[in-house]
Amino acid sequence: MDKFIITGGKKLSGRVEVSGAKNSSLALMPACLLNDGENILLNTPEVNDVFTMKKLLTHMGVEVNFENHVLKINSKNLSTQEAPYEHVKKMRASVYVLGPLLAKYGYAKVSLPGGCAWGPRPINLHLEAMKKLGAEVDLEEGYIVAKTQKLKGTKINFDVSSVGATGNVLMAAVLAKGTTKITNAAAEPEIVQLGNFLQKMGARIHGIGSSTIEIEGVDSLKPTEIETISDRIEAGTLLIAGAVTKSKIGIKLTNTEHLNSVLTKLEDCGAKLLINNNFIEIDAIDLEPQSVDVTTAIYPGFPTDMQAQWTSLMAIAKGTSTITDTIYLDRFNHIPELIRLGADIEVIRNSAVVKGVGKLKGAKVMSTDLRASASLVLAGLAAEGVTEVLRIYHLDRGYQRIEEKLRQLGAEIKRVNTTEY
Ligand code: EPU
Repeated sequence: MDKFIITGGKKLSGRVEVSGAKNSSLALMPACLLNDGENILLNTPEVNDVFTMKKLLTHMGVEVNFENHVLKINSKNLSTQEAPYEHVKKMRASVYVLGPLLAKYGYAKVSLPGGCAWGPRPINLHLEAMKKLGAEVDLEEGYIVAKTQKLKGTKINFDVSSVGATGNVLMAAVLAKGTTKITNAAAEPEIVQLGNFLQKMGARIHGIGSSTIEIEGVDSLKPTEIETISDRIEAGTLLIAGAVTKSKIGIKLTNTEHLNSVLTKLEDCGAKLLINNNFIEIDAIDLEPQSVDVTTAIYPGFPTDMQAQWTSLMAIAKGTSTITDTIYLDRFNHIPELIRLGADIEVIRNSAVVKGVGKLKGAKVMSTDLRASASLVLAGLAAEGVTEVLRIYHLDRGYQRIEEKLRQLGAEIKRVNTTEY
């Protein structure tokens, strides 16, 4: 078990490059189940969720080679269409194998993911959509068992816009007979990239990136190559690191537009930003952060995955802000830990009401999930004195050695192996 020891209050400077997007990789990897050759995924981040997906695919007989951020995936010798509990329980995104397995092999047995640290995260939309596409779907001893002779194109309207369900339907419908129309589809950049990857394989998809997507099924798909987009959440986290430490730093990423909602809020808060196609500089040297309300929403709204990090910035801002999560109503595990660092925050239903306190003070805190951990690291960078962040395995699921990037920028942060839990 590792922890971070952070000596707060250090100014940051310099530039770092943002890693590939975890949530793109987690969709692109299972998409490789759809053809029988070697697919190449460039700029794949070395994060534990990617390693978990690699283990799951390997378990299924897929050849996976991962070196220097290049993933090579070949499914021609697939030996089982089963995703066992031991893998799925570690990572809900494992359910992404359902759509491609059903489409290609007409059968999938995928463990139900079980609970999530911050409340319910159902997969009913995935299952209902597979049924609409003509699959027989049963729940047996904790497993989804789905079968079909051949999936058939259909109309699917999602009651709630869902990244995962849109991704699963895309991967199922590309090999279905006939045309599938998805309405209220997700338009997140990671879904757009999945759509582009499938198009490169030969899939016929129209409207990707909008809320209505049409997919004309084809008989087969060919292997291909794609470069993973930058991780917009890591990018946003690094920019907030610049803001909370009142520093000037630059980040390099593939597409700054993916971050528009966060950049606007940073400007509202008083930060100066210089934005080019693939570079953002934040100048927060004279920043007296102002309180800015945030309500999370589907893309291009403010991402729920940035909510915890924004809370850390608001904890030291001037005034009171309200941060409302409309995507995950209970995603507030970071609040009690931020309070340990001196923040003044009250959770009322799905909102955190944050009274800015100007300064935080270092303490021992505990990570409870990925983005909560990121918010604690940010708070630790801002706090006076030493902050220890325990259980950073949560952070390692989605950030590629974030401490190295922060150290490169001048932060005093070290990873220490510990028996503390
Ligand atoms: N929902 C349902 N039923 C479903 C699926 C979703 O009611 O069958 C609801 C959810 O409860 C939630 C909303 O729909 O209220 C949106 O959830 P979505 O399905 O979009 O989330 P997801 O696909 O499970 C992905 C990311 C999450 C990110 C969300 C929202 C991946 C692997 N995960 O999850 O990322 O928070 O979209 O943007 O892409 C993270 O990286 O920290 C993370 C949790």
